Amino acid sequence: MNILNQTDNQSLIDLANEARKKSYAPYSHYPVGAALRTKTGRVYTGVNIENAAYPTGICAERVAIFKAVSEGELEFDVIAVVTNNGGSPCGSCRQVMAEFGLDTIVLIADGNGNLIEETTVRKLLPEAFQPHHLKKRAGI
Ligand code: THU
Repeated sequence: MNILNQTDNQSLIDLANEARKKSYAPYSHYPVGAALRTKTGRVYTGVNIENAAYPTGICAERVAIFKAVSEGELEFDVIAVVTNNGGSPCGSCRQVMAEFGLDTIVLIADGNGNLIEETTVRKLLPEAFQPHHLKKRAGI
């Protein structure tokens, strides 16, 4: 089992902050970096990538998660999210996190790499809509 201690958490935050330098955010000027550690110990980073057609852009958390999933990784321990001001993940990212488990730890940090909040997907998205909700009940 991969036990995460404070050092591991800080390393993940630092990786997210380093990745953040490659954020493509010419419209919002709000660079975001994420670093996701899978249960197999692999780490995937992501940044927000904006677009001239604004809604086409994507958040850092989802880039990291989609990179992981595209390589066959579906189980996550922890995701670190870094912004200038320690902002919280958006609703769409919470929903994507919830798809892969409510127990994933979410570390929210600021641009100095300081941990602002340690929480879980379960706390960030109560009563989440999840894959099991699509299963048919008997007789319906
Ligand atoms: N953003 C993220 O990358 N993650 C979030 O959870 C919140 C918002 C990005 C999207 C957009 O590029 C910029 O931050 C401002 O909303």
